[in-house]
Order: sequence, then structure tokens, then C-alpha cells
Amino acid sequence: MPAITVTQHGPTAVLTLDLPGEPVNKLSASVKAEFEGALERLRGDGAVKAVVIISGKADNFIAGADIEEFTRLSTQEEFTRLSREGQEMIQRVDDFPKPVIAAIHGACLGGGLELALACDWRIATDHPKTQLGLPEVQLGLLPGAGGCQRLPRLIGLSAALGIIMPGKSEIGIKAFKLGLVDELVPKSILLDTALRTAERLAGQSAPWRAEGNRSGLMAAALDRNPVGRRFVYWKARKDTLKKTGGHYPAPLAALDAVEAGLEHGLAKGFQVEHQKFGELAAGPVSRKLIQIFFATNALKKDDGLPPGVTASAKKVERLGVIGSGFMGAGIAGTAVANAQVDVRLRDTDLSRVGKGLKAATDILTGRLKRRRITKYEFQRQAALLSGGNDTAGFQRADLVVEAVFEDLDVKRKVLADTEAATRADAIFATNTSTIPIADIAAEARRPAQVLGMHFFSPVDRMPLLEVIPTDRTSPDTIATAVQFGRKLGKTVIVVKDRPGFWVNRILLPYMNEAGFLLAEGVPMDLIDRIMTRFGFPVGPITLLDEVGLDVGAKAAKVMHAAFGDRLAPAPVIAKMLEDKRLGRKNGRGFYLYRDGEKHGPDETVYDLLGVRPGAPAAPDLVEQRLVYSMLNEAAMAAGEGVVRSARDGDIGAIFGIGYPPFRGGPLRYIDDLGAAAVVQVLRDLEGKFGPRFAPAASLAAMAERGERFYPA
Ligand code: 3HC
Repeated sequence: MPAITVTQHGPTAVLTLDLPGEPVNKLSASVKAEFEGALERLRGDGAVKAVVIISGKADNFIAGADIEEFTRLSTQEEFTRLSREGQEMIQRVDDFPKPVIAAIHGACLGGGLELALACDWRIATDHPKTQLGLPEVQLGLLPGAGGCQRLPRLIGLSAALGIIMPGKSEIGIKAFKLGLVDELVPKSILLDTALRTAERLAGQSAPWRAEGNRSGLMAAALDRNPVGRRFVYWKARKDTLKKTGGHYPAPLAALDAVEAGLEHGLAKGFQVEHQKFGELAAGPVSRKLIQIFFATNALKKDDGLPPGVTASAKKVERLGVIGSGFMGAGIAGTAVANAQVDVRLRDTDLSRVGKGLKAATDILTGRLKRRRITKYEFQRQAALLSGGNDTAGFQRADLVVEAVFEDLDVKRKVLADTEAATRADAIFATNTSTIPIADIAAEARRPAQVLGMHFFSPVDRMPLLEVIPTDRTSPDTIATAVQFGRKLGKTVIVVKDRPGFWVNRILLPYMNEAGFLLAEGVPMDLIDRIMTRFGFPVGPITLLDEVGLDVGAKAAKVMHAAFGDRLAPAPVIAKMLEDKRLGRKNGRGFYLYRDGEKHGPDETVYDLLGVRPGAPAAPDLVEQRLVYSMLNEAAMAAGEGVVRSARDGDIGAIFGIGYPPFRGGPLRYIDDLGAAAVVQVLRDLEGKFGPRFAPAASLAAMAERGERFYPA
């Protein structure tokens, strides 16, 4: 079946793109051939005075080049050719001798926007699903079909870099303000407006659009003079290097392509663009980021059940949340904002409930301020939130999530009260990070309807959710929690009910090792710097301050009890707690805090620990100890089946703790290093620092058998 159909509307040909059997339109080699053929016929057809390009999909214009096709290529030359051919296809639109109008509804991304940029006129809908952007750098690539050339020419250098370098998308109204689209209309009149515009432009002679730059005055002034532009390039480069630590080559390559085009002409720009696209696409970073894209998409479809087990997920329309602290309020606000469900928040006293409701509403206010929702939507969503200090309203709840104090007896009591107050089919989820779910559910009346939902803080921004069934949780309950988690906008992994689950399990030995290093006198800021250089967003000492030392100590205790001496806590945290240091939350941690701002290391910590800070003899060893403690634990936990697949483990580490995406996750990293090499380093560390580095038995077995977590 063809992907393109052409219909005639008066003097205008409407070219509709609708890839059969695909959820989105994407530009593949076959679509390109079909598109070029159609364009050629329209060029020679005297009855056609103008062309409208529109999508036949309900909510998608064009999602870009077909990323799946990239996985079938390998060499730099192949990718360079792909980019060059993409540029040529889109140049045919630019060179088309009749006006071409893009009628855009839904995602118009990557190659899709590059195609729209070559049209003479762009009309977009004001629907929230309409997003225009160039997300290529998020895949480790650059816009390789002319986007680095046409976007700055259309909206100005600064505005274009603001989209290209972070790989950003804009909704219709913002795109209109930037000058990225010429008209903004409701979806119902998109085609009619496009046809009218086509007729109008067909009656005029080329060029069919006035040149213009709607970026701000300052940006426009900088953009128009070479010295100003040099400053913009310099600053963009500097800011990007600071943000990426040099680990992500794509934004800088995109900048090179933009600069080449603006300073040395279009031909040079196109050449640098396709050459750099080839380099990036054949490189290791893009490969990892594309693997993450597909893994995340695959997880979206995974119901979280063991193979062969089927279940039907229940629709959650009413949610109960118990505990109105930071977590509970975050869950309530996120549920209202993302899943649009009715939420009843419960706590012991009304003033706490009031504070929780305010914090939940703040999530909506933030979205209103960022124009993600209208005032009307804000009011409608805020009205879905209510609260109280009793179980009123819980009778109607389909799911209740508790986020109360981390104490087994308290949680058991909350579970019993909730079971008494809810319908027989209601599900109870506990948001704990340390207590085994089976212990909380031990006395449950309806154990098949109890499981863990471990959210990360802050709930509205952290993308991961761990769902933790016990041996007694029913498949329907698991499927319901997974589906609801996804409605909350989370990437969901289903993990085993083992201490620490997945994310905290692999995090703890790493944090603990940071404690040992500090106790040896390695400066805290150096430890942090070494790990941010490795690619983590923050280092382990800063993370401890953020999480709270009391919380860290509790988790460490649980893990020590579960796994024995191997995870004996470094003495550092206990000493810090004795000195009433809880981290950022009480303004007393490893670092200094003034007015909520983090400053340099608190040097008195070294006195407290009885050490003199000094540069370590071997900084590489510091990195190795930290990184390998996490790798070893990840391998061990994966060997115990804590995660259902290496894919889940890596996505969990990336989305849960910011494991550097360009390394693909800890299990993928072990594959890259080779299990045997990892075991060798661990044995070496074990010899130097003791049995906590003894390689996991499952990893040693993998090394022996030459196995990997992923197929080669
Ligand atoms: N290539 C291949 N497959 C794609 C795709 C693409 N560009 N975009 C989406 N898909 C697939 C997804 O993998 C998924 O497949 P599956 O059903 O088999 O798992 C399916 O389309 C539906 O996608 P989502 O589940 O993500 O649907 P949503 O409605 O949630 O989101 C979207 C739609 C916003 C378009 C989102 O899919 C997206 O962001 N896609 C990627 C866009 C992108 O990165 N484009 C740039 C491509 S690179 C490029 O254009 C290079 C050029 O400059 C030369």
C-alpha cells in the first residue's frame, strides 16, 4: 500500500502522507522514493498550481527520519550518504516551482520539521499534541536534512540554537511567536486554511514569503553582525561544554554545521552537516542513545507480567493517597496533572492535609506558568484534588497509594485501615524505598491486591517508577499498577521484592564507597567531581546531602542487615548524624548551605571525621572503586533476577539515578568492558580493599562462559 496519496482540490494538489500500519509517519528510503516521485508528477502537472502537504494520521505530522532504518547501517559513509540524500530530497521541496504549504497537526519533529522548513508556508494547529522541534541531539545526532541551515535563516541564529542544541520542541503558539510557523489555527479548519492559503499564493509570483526574523531585538542585533554571531557561537559552545562535560558530541557538531552555513554559505553548511551527521551516527554515543529510545518505547508496551501470564488492567479513575508529605503531595499532584484522576489526600491532621494540597496544586501552578495548561485546565484539574483526616471518599478509590513514615508497624496499620475503608476490589500500593513489600503485606486481608510502587523524588519530575509485586500479588494488580504508572507519565520497571529493589540496591554500595573514600581523606568535592566527569549529573556526596543523611543511614542499615558485612556502612554517616547533620534539609551536611544555596565543602566535616583531606595518590583508582562497586552490585542483583531483563536494569539506572546515558547503563557498560575484564578489576580491588569487592558469582560465571547481558 502506498504511503502517499494525492488529491486535487481546485488548483491545489493535497499530498497526504499516511504510512500504512504505522502509528506515526516517518521518512524512510521507500517514503523518500515515493515522495520524490509524487513531487515530480506534480511539477509537470499543469492543473496543479500549488501543493499542500498534510498527514493522514490522527495526531502526527511526521516524527522524523525512520530511526529504525539507522540500526541497519553501520559505517560513517553510509550515514553520511543517508544525510546527503535527505538534504537532496528536501532541497527538491525548496526548489519546487509552485508554492508548497505544510499543514501541520501533531508531532512535527526532526526530518519532519526539516521538510516543513523547506515549504513556502507553514500552518500549524494550536492543539497541545502539535509539537515542532529538532530532537536529533537527544539521539546523539544533528538535524541532518538541512535543519541546521534553514532554521537559523528562518528564525534567527540565537532562537535556532535554542531549539537545535538542546533538541527541543515547541508547541504551536510558541512556534508561531518564534516565526517557525506562519499561521496558527484550530484543527478543524487546518485543511481549509491551507487550501485558501495555497490558492492565494498560487496567484502571486515567487518568492511566496517575506523574509523575517521574529526573535527578540537583542538576539536579532547579535544575529545580524559577524562579531555578534561570533559571541553567540562562543557562548553556546561554552555553555554546552559546561552542561555536557564534553560527553555528548552532537550539540557541538550541530553548532559547527550552523556556523559553517551562516559564515561560509549554504553549500558549505550542507557539507559540514552531512559529514558530521555521518560521524555522529556511526559513533558510540548515538548508538547508546538510540538503544535507550527503543528500550523506553518497548517498556511502554510491556505489561510487566512474567512470560505467558495474561491479566486485565483495571482503569484507575479515583486515587487515594495517604501521607501528605513531600512524596504524597507529589504523587497526588502528578496524578491530577498527568492522569486527570480524582484524588483524595489523607493525613492525620488537617493542617498537614492543607499543606499537602497546596504542594500538589503547586505542580499544576508550575504547568500553568510554563503555559503547558490553560487557566481553564488548571481550574478543572485543581478541582480534582480534595483531602481530609479520615477515610472519607476512600470507598470510591480504585487504588490507594500510601507514602507515610518508613516504619513497618505504621505501614501495616495504614494498610489494615485502608482495607477496612475501601471496596473489596481496591488495590493498595505502598511507596517505600527500604521495607520489603511482603513484610508490609504479611497480615493483609487481600494480599493479591497489595504491591509496592516506589516513586522517586521529586515525583512530578523524576521519570522512573519501580513496581514491586510480592509472591502473592495477582497479575491483574501488577498490570493495573503498571498501566497507571504509565498514565502518570512514568517509565515503569517491575522489580523483585528484594531489599533496595533495583535502584537503591545498586546505588547503595556506590554511596558507601564514597563514604570510605571520604574517611580516607579524599576531598569530598574531588569525589563528586570525579563522578560528574564520569557522567553522573551529581556526585555521590552531593547526592547524600540531597537525599538526607538520616534517609541514607536507614537504607544503609536495611541493606547491611540483608546482605551482611559486604555492605557494612562506612562510618562516615553515623558520625555526621551524631553531629546533627542531615544534609541540605537542615542546612548542615557535607557541603555548606546559605539561604538554601549550596556552597563549597564544609571543612569542619574533615575534623569531625578525624581526617586531613589531601589529593589521592591515584585519582583513577577513586573512579574505579566507585564505578565498579555499582557495576558489581548491578551484576549481582541482575543475577538474582531483581530486574526482568538487562534492558529494565539499564533504563532503571539511567532514569532512576542518572547513570550516564551515553554509557548505556551499568549492564551495557559491563558488556562493553567485557565481563572478564570487569571481574579482573574487581579481583584486583578485592586484593587491595577487601572482600566487599569480591566479584558477584553470577558475573564470574558469565566471564568464564564468555557471556554478555545483551546479544553481541
Ligand atoms: N523512527 C522510527 N520509529 C519511530 C519514530 C521515528 N522517528 N518516532 C516514533 N517511532 C515509533 C516508536 O518507536 C513507536 O514504535 P512502536 O509502537 O513499535 O514501539 C511508535 O512509533 C509510536 O511512538 P510513541 O510510542 O513514542 O508514540 P507517542 O505518541 O508517545 O510519541 C512521538 C510520538 C512524539 C513522535 C515520539 O515517538 C517521538 O518523539 N519520536 C522520535 C522523534 C525523533 O526523535 N525524531 C528525530 C528522528 S532523527 C531525524 O529525523 C534525522 C534527520 O534530521 C535526518
